[in-house]
Amino acid sequence: MSLPAAEDEVTVSLAQLRSTRDELQRFLLEYRFGLQEIETKIAILRDEFLHLHEYNPIEHVSSRVKSADSLVEKVGRKGVASDYASIRENITDVAGVRVTCSFVADTYRLFDLLTQQDDISVRLVKDYIAHPKANGYKSLHAIVEVPVFLSTGRVQVPVEVQFRTVAMDFWASLEHKIYYKYDRQVPDGLLAELKDAADTAAELDTRMERLHRQVHGPATHAMSV
Ligand code: GTP
Ligand code: MG
Repeated sequence: MSLPAAEDEVTVSLAQLRSTRDELQRFLLEYRFGLQEIETKIAILRDEFLHLHEYNPIEHVSSRVKSADSLVEKVGRKGVASDYASIRENITDVAGVRVTCSFVADTYRLFDLLTQQDDISVRLVKDYIAHPKANGYKSLHAIVEVPVFLSTGRVQVPVEVQFRTVAMDFWASLEHKIYYKYDRQVPDGLLAELKDAADTAAELDTRMERLHRQVHGPATHAMSV
């Protein structure tokens, strides 16, 4: 006995299934290449700065290509049409790089040095450092496009780059865990404590940067080239 098929159920051949898988892998591969281009640019800026000034403005860099799972989830959540052209246009964080810096001045300096490069085009900037979110979240976000040269020609790949300090990163990772632990419904008391912690983190950033200036002087401070 066979059950009646649900309305949105489609039967695909194994060949179709394979071709869908290959298309998705190819789609995600472009983002991996875009990520590699940005990572190289960041690494060059870091190494050159270290060489010139014996100062490393970057604490760490992490990157990821969105998993197929979370891409599908976001396409559904944002109501984006599920063809590659629409996804490419509307989901701009398929490739993401996070640059964690020592000081606030370094986040802006690295942002400038990256976005001023003439093969980079900036699609969108969200400055949550100057304008923190209501919950206290701070970071400098940019959606940039970087050219990637494939055998089939040049493609412009969008990459989300987040610049933040160690203190902002510490706060954001804890907030992220709490947010998901409470399934996005964080109790008010905890929200207030998180906001308070964000203010403390910002104060720490200010104090650490001031101390750094006292020791090294403004000339060698942060990324003044
Ligand atoms: P998403 O749909 O979640 O990607 O957000 P968006 O398209 O509105 O863009 P936005 O620039 O606000 O956020 C992009 C990314 O920044 C998120 O995916 C998170 O990595 C990070 N982010 C933004 N807001 C918060 C926040 O309140 N807390 C934490 N922990 N991370 C955040
Ligand atoms: Mg995102």
